[in-house]
Amino acid sequence: MKLPNLDEARKRTNNKVDYIYLDEHYDQNTFKGQKYFLRTYGCQMNVHDGEEIAARLESLGFTPTDKLEDADIVILNTCAIRENAHDKLYGFLGRCKHAKKDNKDLIIGICGCMAQEESVVKELMEKHPYVDIVFGTHNIHELQDLILKRSNKQDINVYSCEGEVYENISYKRDSNIKAWVNIQYGCDKFCTYCIVPYTRGKQRSRKSSEIIKEVENLVKEGYKEVTLLGQNVNAYGKDLEGELNFAGLLKEVSKTNIPRIRFVTSHPWDFTDEMIETIATCPNIMPYIHLPLQSGSSRILKLMGRRYTKEEYLKLFNKIKETIPNCAVTTDIIVGFPNETEEDFNETLDVVNTCKYDSAFTFIFSPRKGTPAAKMSDEVTMATKEERLHKLNELVNSYSLQANQKYVGQTVPVLIEGISEKDPNKVFGYTDTMKLVNISNAQDKIGKIIDVTITDAKSFSLDGEIK
Ligand code: SAH
Ligand code: SF4
Ligand code: F3S
Repeated sequence: MKLPNLDEARKRTNNKVDYIYLDEHYDQNTFKGQKYFLRTYGCQMNVHDGEEIAARLESLGFTPTDKLEDADIVILNTCAIRENAHDKLYGFLGRCKHAKKDNKDLIIGICGCMAQEESVVKELMEKHPYVDIVFGTHNIHELQDLILKRSNKQDINVYSCEGEVYENISYKRDSNIKAWVNIQYGCDKFCTYCIVPYTRGKQRSRKSSEIIKEVENLVKEGYKEVTLLGQNVNAYGKDLEGELNFAGLLKEVSKTNIPRIRFVTSHPWDFTDEMIETIATCPNIMPYIHLPLQSGSSRILKLMGRRYTKEEYLKLFNKIKETIPNCAVTTDIIVGFPNETEEDFNETLDVVNTCKYDSAFTFIFSPRKGTPAAKMSDEVTMATKEERLHKLNELVNSYSLQANQKYVGQTVPVLIEGISEKDPNKVFGYTDTMKLVNISNAQDKIGKIIDVTITDAKSFSLDGEIK
């Protein structure tokens, strides 16, 4: 049994990355007729891990169910980014414990970023012995073995800081139109508030040849869009000798002729002019950039370890807007970082007023155990933080609506993805700038990029029709 350890993860002395080419064979009859229930929380990376977990479960013969009561195995793929993750985990475990009373053979598995936290694993061992298997973000490839070899005890296998990259992974993709493609694992930025470098390990880039191969296969399978995934896509390749940089990778992916290329997340720190030029000149790279601000105050940014100032951020933002016509920019903002003053907060509002983001994800700072910011003293009350969040959201939403209203009357290309959940007579899709559009009478257009005339705009979506 291996336990995760934040201190060990922090040291990371060994920079070598091992590339392991999986060659796995499992018997699909092993759990024939049995069902799996998989729930994933967190970011796109976790969602994509969920697609790997699903493929692994199906390789043993399990089929999916969305009813916990019908499941023979339950896997909870957790996120650790904010404190409320804990409530979600333990709330869910309560349901699992109950389900196990009715079905004693139910296998309960916990994985994802929380499984990389030492304190969480200890708590699972001490207080939740009915959990059968625990595996971390570095151990997903061991899932089948963990299931096949499980004993009567809790089986835990979580590595602290493995430096491996696995290739030949199978995914059960949620969509046959757009696909996630990992280009890099882990993160080396260590922003002082963030748990990710501890739960995902050091930055490890995949080789560009493998990434291109994966995208080429997706093109052959008829996929229309790929999203290149990493915590810091701009730093792609920096950990490998003789590898392309991110702009170089984008150019190569562009040559596969996949109709749409997106990427998340871009840290403002490593954003180069070459990247901006590449996005501007390759027609299949979408004019949409998620550029997390976190705070508009240079003082707070320094405390966050973000390594850019308000001015540097704005300079980059302006360069993007000048070079890439119609580029949509979205962001992430944290309010209530320890001892954020009214003045600091006003700096954030000032940047929002300047950048007029297409949309923004906003969060109240959540202290994460083991990170430097969690140890900082903080005089700001929760009531003040909530007030700031409310004020920020109102401002952000007003700009989202403004940005969306500009589309009314325009005809824009939309990739149609499926039937709208709210209205079965409509389909939904996204513009190249990542605006959600609901469209009437276009059921036969799913999987196609079509011209749609925008008829109405709301804060979070557009309505459109085909002329
Ligand atoms: N790699 C990405 C972010 C990944 S986490 C980047 O650097 O931009 C997604 C978002 O969660 C972050 O951008 C940040 O806004 C938010 N976040 C991370 N840690 C947080 C914390 N401790 N409290 C509140 N929000 C947090
Ligand atoms: Fe977290 Fe910062 Fe890395 Fe993003 S760049 S994952 S916020 S440490
Ligand atoms: Fe959450 Fe882990 Fe992603 S903490 S945000 S699932 S990298």
